[in-house]
Amino acid sequence: MGLHRAILGDCIDADKTIDLNSVDLIYLDPPFFTQKIQQQKNREGTKHFSFHDLWANDSEYADYLVQRLLRLKPLLKDTGSIFFHCDKTASHIARLLLDSVFGEENFCSEIIWYFKRWSNSKKGLLSAHQTIFFYSKSRDFKFNKIMQEYSASTNVDQIMQKRARDSKGKSVYARSEDGKILNGGAKKGVPLSDVWEIPFLNPKAKERVGYPTQKPVLLLNRIIELVTDEDDLVLDPFCGSGTTLVAAKQLKRRAIGYTSEDAVNLTNERLANPVVTTSTLMENGRESYNQHSKEAREILNGIDYTPVHRNSGIDALLKHEIDGRPVFLRIQKQGETTLDSLVSLKRSTKTKGECIRILIKTSADSVDLSEYLEGVYIIPSTSCLLHDFLSTGDRQKQDTSSQKPSKTPADLKSP
Ligand SMILES: C[S@@+](CC[C@H](N)C(=O)[O-])C[C@H]1O[C@@H](n2cnc3c(N)ncnc32)[C@H](O)[C@@H]1O
Repeated sequence: MGLHRAILGDCIDADKTIDLNSVDLIYLDPPFFTQKIQQQKNREGTKHFSFHDLWANDSEYADYLVQRLLRLKPLLKDTGSIFFHCDKTASHIARLLLDSVFGEENFCSEIIWYFKRWSNSKKGLLSAHQTIFFYSKSRDFKFNKIMQEYSASTNVDQIMQKRARDSKGKSVYARSEDGKILNGGAKKGVPLSDVWEIPFLNPKAKERVGYPTQKPVLLLNRIIELVTDEDDLVLDPFCGSGTTLVAAKQLKRRAIGYTSEDAVNLTNERLANPVVTTSTLMENGRESYNQHSKEAREILNGIDYTPVHRNSGIDALLKHEIDGRPVFLRIQKQGETTLDSLVSLKRSTKTKGECIRILIKTSADSVDLSEYLEGVYIIPSTSCLLHDFLSTGDRQKQDTSSQKPSKTPADLKSP
């Protein structure tokens, strides 16, 4: 069997082709009970795709789903998971069916896939999400933790401080015997939540193949990465235009999909020539809410850091600690004197316990700061160094001392 295979036929027969206990992930995106014939044409208008989503009543729809879920479940490994995609039309039906087939105890998450939409012809709230139910086959399921950047509203400089409970059980900052605030260690971000903002394919997206209800590869990437590893087997019993197979191939997973006559060739074409529309929002999540000036972003480019938004004296918390101490960084703002910038950084880090403070100096002012330097490491920015270089009369004897830190991290052990 090929590594990525679109099978023409009803997924109820999947157990005739696929071994029991062999699948790591089943993602299914069945018809949503829209009571419509879903149809669309490709961009060139040369191909017309459609599928039937008309039902006598909700019991007929529920029967159709449960018959297939019962046949699919034994294909999953004990460590496997199932992700069931639906929307508000039948999410209540799906949840009950999944509870009965997989067991309430194996319910893991109700994922809200949220996307921006602009038009709303109907009276009422704009519909801007779909639901994906995540169940595991057993409690021993495979799960790869995904961490995300902190949101702009998080006080990242505060959450890295170690916490303790006081005598009344209240959460307080932990302190050493001599009263210093303790560092809780580097934070890796926040674990992925169950609300996912992933853009819907826009009408002009290259990835769009003209298949009705086509889902974005980026959504499938996330699901696949969450519960499978390379070479694992992914099954999409309702794969339509083959989105899941395209994502699985990109991520080096094996995949099988069941699809209809009009979509099997389309799926094979997509597998041969995968096109994925990337998302600026997802790639530049951090940049999209970055309030730093252009100059600050350029300076921090290539540095592994967490932006600090809610503390006016600190711009960034570096991901790497020095000697077990957090490193806070401030970039001197335009129009601000080096002294003001330094004072601001010191004031904002006063309660941070043992930490390293770095001020990136961007102005060429030459005020004597010696009495304020205690505990701060000053590094001139490239533009500052260049300015110094250009303004010095004797370039042969360029004074390299300005490139040296005023204090090294080792010096700062006892600021
Ligand atoms: C919501 S669409 C899936 C769209 C798909 N996720 C994509 O990105 O292109 C549902 C698909 O299930 C197919 N389908 C319906 N009943 C099926 C069945 N019993 N076995 C296999 N596919 C089925 C429909 O033809 C349709 O292609």
